[in-house]
Amino acid sequence: MKVTVVGAGGNVGSTVALSVAQRDFAKEVVMVDIEKKEDDKTFYPSKGRALDQWESSPIHGFDTRLNGTVDYEDTANSDVCVITAGVPRRPGMSRDDLLEINAKIVDKVATELVKHSPDTIMIIVSNPLDVMTYVAHASSGLDDTKVMGMAGILDTARYRAFLAEELNVSPKDIQALLMGGHGDTMVPLPRYTTVAGIPVTQLIDESKLDDIVARTKKGGGEIVGLMGTSAWYAPGAAAAQMVEAIMLDQNRIFPCAVKPNGQYGIDDIFIGLPVKLGHGGIKEIIEVDLDEKERDLLDESADAVRSTMDDFKKLMNN
Ligand code: NAI
Ligand code: 2OP
Repeated sequence: MKVTVVGAGGNVGSTVALSVAQRDFAKEVVMVDIEKKEDDKTFYPSKGRALDQWESSPIHGFDTRLNGTVDYEDTANSDVCVITAGVPRRPGMSRDDLLEINAKIVDKVATELVKHSPDTIMIIVSNPLDVMTYVAHASSGLDDTKVMGMAGILDTARYRAFLAEELNVSPKDIQALLMGGHGDTMVPLPRYTTVAGIPVTQLIDESKLDDIVARTKKGGGEIVGLMGTSAWYAPGAAAAQMVEAIMLDQNRIFPCAVKPNGQYGIDDIFIGLPVKLGHGGIKEIIEVDLDEKERDLLDESADAVRSTMDDFKKLMNN
């Protein structure tokens, strides 16, 4: 089993690579990035990170070989490719501010990847996530079932971590569902949140729950405010969990950015919805009942994604 991560000289990509290697199911992880030039010297960040991580294999105890490269030929016949290439948010920026630069990068990367791995499955991480997933889908020409974005697992993990902290319980016992675009309009769903099967609404008062939902929606910005750049540990682990579910045919149910075919009344954009992930990619988009308020929130989030899609289309026409 072969996994490629592009942008792997950077923070999220290198974390995805290490997290996949530590799970020890893949034969090889190919880490692609570009050359960097500084003071007349050329550096190869993905080769450096790959070597450093491979040197940790005796300590971590994994066999997965990590190889850094700048050459897409080395990615040939990858089962799964993860795209983290692009620029991250800086303080004061929204994810949408990254649109123009990252769209060009994701288009180029997806086109190169599919040339060498025509049957691959692609997981997109670059922001703005829902629109970058659309770009990779269009540029690669892969089926709807084979192109998906990572955001929902991360956003749900933040929500679960905040709940675990508030309730003083293990985060492992918190199960939750979250839908919508990867932006401030994402839709955590308290009605579909349990603590070891107990509805969370029985364990926490409404205003506290509202605060946690609000913190989750701004979770990415909270990290940017603390570090001056965006998160990578939780995003990297989240993308690795998707890779594992696909490669090991686990049939895990995760929220992922996908292209619905009329589910939830949506068929024109990529957006976060619960899916079953296994061999071949997306096996099913799962439709759950939403009450009127939840439905309105999902519609609002879909409109926010459409608005970024409109900006993207305007850019393409200029
Ligand atoms: P980073 O700057 O640490 O790494 C990005 C890497 O992409 C750099 O090493 C850069 O050289 C590389 N790159 C740029 N153009 C490239 C190209 N044409 N080909 C190959 N590599 C190229 O940034 P970081 O923190 O790793 O974030 C990466 C992206 O992931 C950003 O767009 C960020 O907003 C997004 N992100 C998305 C999350 C999500 O939940 N979907 C969570 C966290 C970050
Ligand atoms: C996050 O939510 C920046 O999208 C990234 O951390």
